[in-house]
Formats: sequence, C-alpha cells, structure tokens
Amino acid sequence: MKQKNVLVLFFFLMITVAQSQHVSDYDLWLKYNLIDNSELSDSYSKITNSISISSKSEVLKNVKKELTLALPKMLNNKSKFQNGFTDETTLLIDTFKNLPTDLKPKIQKSIDSVNGEGFIIKFLTFKNKPLIIITAKKEVGLLYGTFRLLEFMQLHKPLTGIDVVDSPKIQLRMLNHWDNLDRSVERGYAGFSLWNWQKLPEHIDERYIDYARANASIGINATVLTNVNANALVLTPMYLEKIEALANVFRGYGIKVYLTARFSAPIEIGNLETADPLDSEVQKWWANKASEIYKRIPDFGGFLVKANSEGQPGPQNYGRNHVDGANMMATALEPFGGNIIWRAFVYSEHDDTDRAKQAYNEFLPYDGKFKDNVVVQVKNGPIDFQPREPFHPMFGALKKTPLAIEFQITQEYLGFSSHLVFLPKLFEEILDTDTYQKGEGSTVARVIDGSLYGNKITALAGVSNIGTDINWTGHPFAQANWYGFGRLAWDPYISSDQIAEEWLRLTYNTDIAFVEPVKKMMLSSHEAVVNYMNPLGLHHIFDTGHHYGPGPWVDNLGRPDWNPVYYHKADTEGIGFDRTTSGSNATEQYAPHVQDMYNDVTAIPEEYLLWFHHLSWNYKLKNGEILWNAIALKYQEGVDQVKTMIKTWDASKSYVSEQEYNDVKMLLQIQLKEAQWWRDACLLYFQTFSKLPLPDKVEKPAHNLEYYKSLRFPFAPGIKPQWD
Ligand code: GCU
Repeated sequence: MKQKNVLVLFFFLMITVAQSQHVSDYDLWLKYNLIDNSELSDSYSKITNSISISSKSEVLKNVKKELTLALPKMLNNKSKFQNGFTDETTLLIDTFKNLPTDLKPKIQKSIDSVNGEGFIIKFLTFKNKPLIIITAKKEVGLLYGTFRLLEFMQLHKPLTGIDVVDSPKIQLRMLNHWDNLDRSVERGYAGFSLWNWQKLPEHIDERYIDYARANASIGINATVLTNVNANALVLTPMYLEKIEALANVFRGYGIKVYLTARFSAPIEIGNLETADPLDSEVQKWWANKASEIYKRIPDFGGFLVKANSEGQPGPQNYGRNHVDGANMMATALEPFGGNIIWRAFVYSEHDDTDRAKQAYNEFLPYDGKFKDNVVVQVKNGPIDFQPREPFHPMFGALKKTPLAIEFQITQEYLGFSSHLVFLPKLFEEILDTDTYQKGEGSTVARVIDGSLYGNKITALAGVSNIGTDINWTGHPFAQANWYGFGRLAWDPYISSDQIAEEWLRLTYNTDIAFVEPVKKMMLSSHEAVVNYMNPLGLHHIFDTGHHYGPGPWVDNLGRPDWNPVYYHKADTEGIGFDRTTSGSNATEQYAPHVQDMYNDVTAIPEEYLLWFHHLSWNYKLKNGEILWNAIALKYQEGVDQVKTMIKTWDASKSYVSEQEYNDVKMLLQIQLKEAQWWRDACLLYFQTFSKLPLPDKVEKPAHNLEYYKSLRFPFAPGIKPQWD
C-alpha cells in the first residue's frame, strides 16, 4: 500500500514537472522559430541558398551542424552546402587566409581590427553577384560569426548591407559551476549537476552538446566544472578520463575546461604529508599532476582555487601566503599555457576588522607579485553577492595584478529560481561604476577589460545557474541571466536594455507590443527585489545556511560576521553599519573622490546609505521621510512592484503559449508571497527597535514576529538537505 502511494506521488510529481516546465524551454534562445514574414523569409532563403563551408575540423563541423539545424526550422527549406567557393555560393564561411585572393582586399582593413576570436559578417558584391561572407582569423571566430548571423535572423533584422566587425573584449568568459561530485549543486536551484560522472566517459549526453552550443552562441569560452569548495578526487585518473570526454565535446565549441583544485590534494590523493607550497615534493606533485592532465587534455584551461577561505585549506595552513600558493601552482601549469584563477573571497574569524575590508587588506600588499599566468578573481562586492552591494574596493586599487570579476548568476540571495530577477541590470550597475582609481572614467569594466592598466589576462566569471531542469535554469526568465552574462562577458559595455530586448525576442516573441512592457518588467525586477529584501543598503539579513528568506534576528552563529545582526546593527538609536571614518573606515579603501562621496551622508547615493552609515530612525531622507518610514515604504514598494509584474505578465498572455504563461504566472505568485514575507518579517523585527508605527501606505503584517522566527525550511535547495 505504502509503495503504491509513493508511485502515485511520483507520477503526480512527474506530471507537475511536465506541466510547469515547457519542453520548448529546453531550446533556450536557440529556438529558431519559423519566420512568418514572407519578404524576410525569401530574402534569408536567397542568402542561405548555397553555403560554402569546409568541414575539416570539429569547429567547422559544428558550424555546419548548427546551420543545418537552424535554417530549415526558420525558413522551411534546405540550403545547399559546398566545400569551397563556387559561382553559386551565396554565403561563404571561411577563415581569412582561405578566402579567394581577389576577395581579401575588401576585408583586409576589417580583419586587421579583430582579435583571434573576432569575426566579420559582410554583405558585398563579388563577381557581379551579392554575397555574404563570414570570416575570421581563426575558426572559432567563424563559429561566433555564424551564431551572430543566426541571431540576426531570429531577431528579424535585415541582412542586405550587413557589415559587422566584432571581437570579444574579455579573453576568459567563464562559467563557474559549483557542482559537487555527488551531482548536488552548491547554491543550485535548477536540479542536479549536468555532469553524469557514472555514465561518463562512454556516454555523451546530448545535454553536453546543447550546453556547449548555448555557451558558444553567446561567446562563453571557458567552464569550471566543479565546486570551489573542491574535492581532490576530481584530480584522480578515474575522474580525469571523464573530464577528458567533456573537454573533447566542448573543444569543438571553443570552450576550454577548467577544474577547481583543492589545495591539500597532495595529501589527500598524493600520499604526501604536507601541501606546503614551498616544499619541493609538493611542487613536484603539482608539476606531475599538470603534466598528467595536459597529456589527456592538451588545451586544459587551468585551476580555479578557493584557498584559506571559509575553512578551505590553503598556503596559510603552512605559514605561507596567497602569492606562495598561487605562484607554486602557476609554475606547474606554466609550461602548458594554463592559468591559475585565485579567488579573493577571503575573511577570517581571527580578524575582527570589518569583514568588508579584509580581502583588500590581505591582497593589496601582493599587488604585482603574482606570476603572469595568475588572475585574482574578486566578487563584485566586498561581502557576498548581496542583492545590492557597492563595488569591491579591490577593483582599480590593484594596479599590477589582473583582476577577474565574479558575478553570481545563480540566485542565492535573490529569491532562488522562483523569483524573476533580471541580473544583467545588477552586472551593468557594477561594471559601469567609476572607481576613480586612475581619475574619472576608471570604471570597473575598464579595470576588467584591461583598458585601464593593460592586464595580460582579462577575465569575467559567473557562478552558473544551470542544472538538469528541463528548462536548464529553474525559472524560464533565469535563462536571460545566463544569456546576459555571456553577452556582457563578450562586451561589458552593452546595455541591459539591449540584452533584455534581444533575449525576449529570441525566446518568446518579436512583437513590440509584447517586448516593450515585458522588457520594462525585466528592467525593474532587480530594483524590486532590492526593495523587498534589502532596501537602502541593508545587507546579509538572510536566514541561516540556506539563505532562503529573511533572518535579520539571527545572532547565534559561531562567527560574528556570519550573523545578520553584525550587518544591520539595529538598536533603539537607529540602524546601519558605520563604515565611514568614524566607524570601520572601510571607505578609506576607495579612491579619494569615492571616499568623500561615501563618507558624506548627504552625498552618498541613497541605495548605499545603510551600507556605510548608522543613522537614527528619525533621520530625514532627501524626500523628507524619516528613515523608519522610508525603510517601510521601500519594502512596500518592492511588494507593489511584484504586483505590477503580475499585471504585466497577465497582459502578455496572448503572446505566449498557455504553458509558458502559466509557468511564469505561478512563479510570480510565489514571488509575491515571498516579497510580502520579507516585508512583514523584517519590518516587525526592526520595529522592535524603532518602536514607531508603520506608515499608512504599508500593508499590515499577516502574522506576528514569533511566527516568522519559527519558520523552518529543511527542503530549501542549494545546500545539503538538513532533515532534523
Ligand atoms: C557564499 C556561498 C557559499 C560559497 C561561497 C564562495 O558564501 O554561500 O556557498 O561557497 O560564497 O563563494 O566561496
């Protein structure tokens, strides 16, 4: 009987999944819907009638495969493929060196201006006939150029006269998977890890190929397969042969594989007694390990390392420092051209200075001391992927060390995969911020792309939100965050507005009556979540461990800087973390202009107010409201914004399928419920200090504070389940 119940429940769950996640969501932004405008469709058909492309290499085979998949779907007819240019050719795809000699002069100037991964798409007249060419210095550029051409077609853009010359502005455009070897995903909200270790290396899941296609289509060229909280086993032969199989798939899409390396691996899997970076046996062990990996994977990217951070082992365990650790590993990879990505997410329980200051303090003295194949990876803000943070003070301050920026695409502190939050807005906000470290115009984007200090390596990383869910990302709109991350990694200067528009048109519908309002909804969604979770610079007030929902009252964790009370510092006087000169003086880590702005309570942008200032509940804001009322009204505004999002989605119903509509609608209802929960729980708690009434415009809480404090979530995803 019991077994029967379980079966019934299983089928019920399967049906629910099938109903809520639409199979076509699997195709992401590569749906290649039929183009129903006959004029456009005719013109595209003429252009793609006869395609000249060789299929000598894996990359070129994949280019041809993509065209063979996409064109019949969009145009309902078949293109002819030839190997080499003929009189019939209408679309020529080849590297510059292989182009017909009399074509080259028409392209020479453009080709000189692109880098190794760049491409050119050009419409021209050749031998008295119209011709489109996609060319590049290297084959990978042809892959990117073809995806761009297909994107143009999906966006219904005219191709006659097309002249695109484009190159990525960042060298390493990388996803960081926080995937464990048991296939759970740390902070993952979209199912399990894609990497099926048991079936690899023999079984190549179609998903690996589709994952690679999706990444290549937006220019992602590097993937770290495993969690930063690393397991040394991944470096043993039994896993390396599986990694090799994945690398073989990804190579054909221009993607290099990286692994996370546990610093203590020489002890755990190498039988050594120490992992001291200055020990010659340890150095030899890493050198041998590198050579073993490169024998299997000649283009292996390198290691991402989380060392001496949140309990992970590192050089400090042996009285050494980050430079000793990173350079030792970099030396091992150097002969093979590999990189070490060394994370700067460090803070210590033995250091009682403001946590926001610790990474800068630790790394600044090492500026210029790392080897050339080391990149230091810094989270976008000084604490930890909060809904809003000021930029990390290390950006611009380290002038001789290449810094990578690390964004979190997975929504650990942003409503998991049930909240619709368009993250390119957050990424753009940080990238566009001026650090003033080399005078005005020293934006974070310019620190990252190397145009400010001329870094040898440039890199942008995003913690992946991808898993085994049918739609890859849990929330259909979370696909836009993967897409947008890739677009910004390619070009950190494009606007979130452009990204939202492109993604909507590729994913759902090109009708402007749909695109405009839904785009507006996406662009306001980040501000909404900030308002209903952490308004006016509040931060890290999440519940313990899983970080699901509010926990501003939490004060019982082992380390002071793990407790929300450490961050909001609410008392009967007021609220906020004084990081000005009269407080922790975290502001001193910024350039003088930024310091002055953040120290001055009247000059600081209000969105960072309580990040830097402790203010009385009666402090008057620019709009005349007292702080208590302003906080309460912000929480309410966040809830109201979600209500508006629901209205917008309702009005879009006729432009999407019923399933697509229902899926997002159900998720928006969860978002509304949880926005109200955040508002009520936080305001009731802060009210115990302010002792002031809620302003009239703020809805009354549904429960009392004790109720919110009593909630438990053993089912919260993203960390190992904790059933009590
Ligand atoms: C956060 C997150 C952890 C993660 C860590 C990191 O603290 O909650 O799960 O390991 O960041 O970035 O290393």
